[in-house]
Amino acid sequence: MDLPDIRATDVAGKRVLVRADLNVPMKDGEIADDNRLRAVLPTFRDTLGRGGRLIVIAHLDRPGGKRDPASSLRPVADALRDALDGPRVSFVEDCLGADAEKAVDGLDAGQCLVLENLRFHAGETDNAADFADALAMLGDIYVNDAFSASHRAHASIVGLADRLPAAAGLLMQKEVETLDRLLANPQRPYVALLGGAKASTKVPVVEHLLGRADRILLGGVMATTFLKARGVDIGRSRIAEDHVETAEKLLRDAEGARADLMLPTDVVVASEARADAEADIVGLGEVGDRMILDIGPETIRRYADAIEDRGTVVWNGPVGAAEFEPFQRGTHFLAAVIGEQTQTGGLVSVAGGGDTTAFLQKHQFLHLFTYASMAGGAFLQFLSGEALPGLESLKRHS
Ligand code: 3PG
Repeated sequence: MDLPDIRATDVAGKRVLVRADLNVPMKDGEIADDNRLRAVLPTFRDTLGRGGRLIVIAHLDRPGGKRDPASSLRPVADALRDALDGPRVSFVEDCLGADAEKAVDGLDAGQCLVLENLRFHAGETDNAADFADALAMLGDIYVNDAFSASHRAHASIVGLADRLPAAAGLLMQKEVETLDRLLANPQRPYVALLGGAKASTKVPVVEHLLGRADRILLGGVMATTFLKARGVDIGRSRIAEDHVETAEKLLRDAEGARADLMLPTDVVVASEARADAEADIVGLGEVGDRMILDIGPETIRRYADAIEDRGTVVWNGPVGAAEFEPFQRGTHFLAAVIGEQTQTGGLVSVAGGGDTTAFLQKHQFLHLFTYASMAGGAFLQFLSGEALPGLESLKRHS
């Protein structure tokens, strides 16, 4: 994919507005996982090192167009100050207005300013023209380094690219190049493993991959939704109600499709998704009034066998309620198999999505994978073959 490269842009003395994805998980006001922050440092260092006046714009969470202290980027700016260790890093409590303008005017070459959460203004998510105009006034150059937010047609993603000279940051380039290289023409068999607690963003992925992948393995709420669509009694399992009909259609489409759509044949059930729940392994049809919370051992074996050496596996979403010990065996076992085959069998493994990468990191499998994307929703949209508005906007500058 042809994207304009920040390294080909002279940033010396210029106000460089960098859209980063600093949407990091927070716990009690502290950053719980700083992977996304560390991932954008190369672009920040490159800009500062070449004498740019770096203005970082980002969102945290979904505050809904209102100021919300719980979604302030201040702790992220503090962490950035530590991580950059050298250049001055200041913070302004609004991304627009007199204080922001003054801070930008006072910014010297090689200094960094972080602006408060863009989503404190509804104009960001609405891509409002006056909001985008006001943001654009703060910079000379726009850099999009937020692949993971580029599925959003927001002001800081598309509005700025329409108003300023634009380039792709280093993380953006790495994400797009790597995903393109590994997945545009994948080593086969090409296997997609889709799980997680939400299904709405994954259903279009199944639709697209039916014609491209060789096998699609479903877990989590994807599996329960498709089992329901197949007429299996799933008890009190969580499903994506709105997608059962689409799942029925996809099951019919799957009959003539390239990909083999695989569903669990045995499952782990319990009355509640809890760490101290009593879990049972049962066959389909024996769920009763319990909930399906993981795939069973036979399914684990079938799924593991479906992932072959020298093939490709792309993974989004744990296959069970893996945050609870009784329901993490499926996810854990498949992670181990994929990690091992990547290291010794020439398997290409690509993981994306916060829950998946957090699980893989916690259980020390992530470093065994070929590539882990920082993106969740954007990763899925990329997999679904749909264009990402942020990438389309950048391409117009190539
Ligand atoms: C993400 O966490 O996937 C991105 O930061 C986008 O966040 P959003 O889903 O709230 O737009």
